[in-house]
Amino acid sequence: MRSVIDIKDLSTTELNELVAVAEDIIQNPDKYAHKCDRKKLATLFFEPSTRTRLSFEAAMYELGGHVLSMSDAGSSSAAKGESVADTAKTVSCYADIIAMRHPKEGAPLVAAMNASIPVINAGDGGHNHPTQTLADLLTIHREKARFDNLTIGLCGDLKFGRTVHSLISAMTRYSGIKFVLISPKELTVPSYVKKVIKEAGAECRETTDLLEAMPQLDILYMTRVQRERFFNEEDYLRLKDSYILTPEKLITAKKDLCIMHPLPRVNEISVKVDEDPRACYFKQVLNGKYMRMALILKLLEIK
Ligand code: CP
Repeated sequence: MRSVIDIKDLSTTELNELVAVAEDIIQNPDKYAHKCDRKKLATLFFEPSTRTRLSFEAAMYELGGHVLSMSDAGSSSAAKGESVADTAKTVSCYADIIAMRHPKEGAPLVAAMNASIPVINAGDGGHNHPTQTLADLLTIHREKARFDNLTIGLCGDLKFGRTVHSLISAMTRYSGIKFVLISPKELTVPSYVKKVIKEAGAECRETTDLLEAMPQLDILYMTRVQRERFFNEEDYLRLKDSYILTPEKLITAKKDLCIMHPLPRVNEISVKVDEDPRACYFKQVLNGKYMRMALILKLLEIK
């Protein structure tokens, strides 16, 4: 029995296989419509979500399975003080697989250590979000037809943006990757993520200037400043609009730039950019469902 808590829990071969299965699901949805008949997914979300929870649930329904859903901590016995470990043991009695989001870093790992069914980390605090990375990888594959020799600009809140940490970890495995880390000085990537880049030998530079970086980028990955992770509101208000992508700022960008964002967006991409054919963030949303279908099949060992 396997869980996925960190993107590192999946080998590069497995990432490539998941992309291939997702592509097959897109081409042949009927082939997968009953793969999870009688199986149950429990979505345990202790923190708000639109995309991740609903795409996991849509994924399980499209595989023919069922869903047990807990959409906020207040509606579960966590509100009465139940531990994550006891919740995981309990849900293991009802479901075949768990997708868990939690504000505490490491909570899905604790769940995996106590559950008797696979646990998928659906986002833990400012730490990791491996299934968003799966959505991102399928998007890169579909838009760029490769994972190597790409210059990737990551822009915004690189400190608390868990999707950034997981995506960097995944992309360091491929050759010829160059990272351009664009953030205010207060929101640079944590040192453990810089260590991952260094150990992989990937090229990397940091800047505060999005416009300066723009012409070099193959991928621009915008992120929201994560208000919920700030210790004081004053700092959030000062930093929240550090980067706002507008059509004017894209004038020097490559014609085949891929603009990504894990969403939700607040102000960091103007809605006017949505009309640009390079905007890929709603494609990411859909790709997330296919990759979560592929991951559920893998962890339930269903061919
Ligand atoms: N990308 C993402 O995790 O979105 P939600 O918070 O809506 O799930």
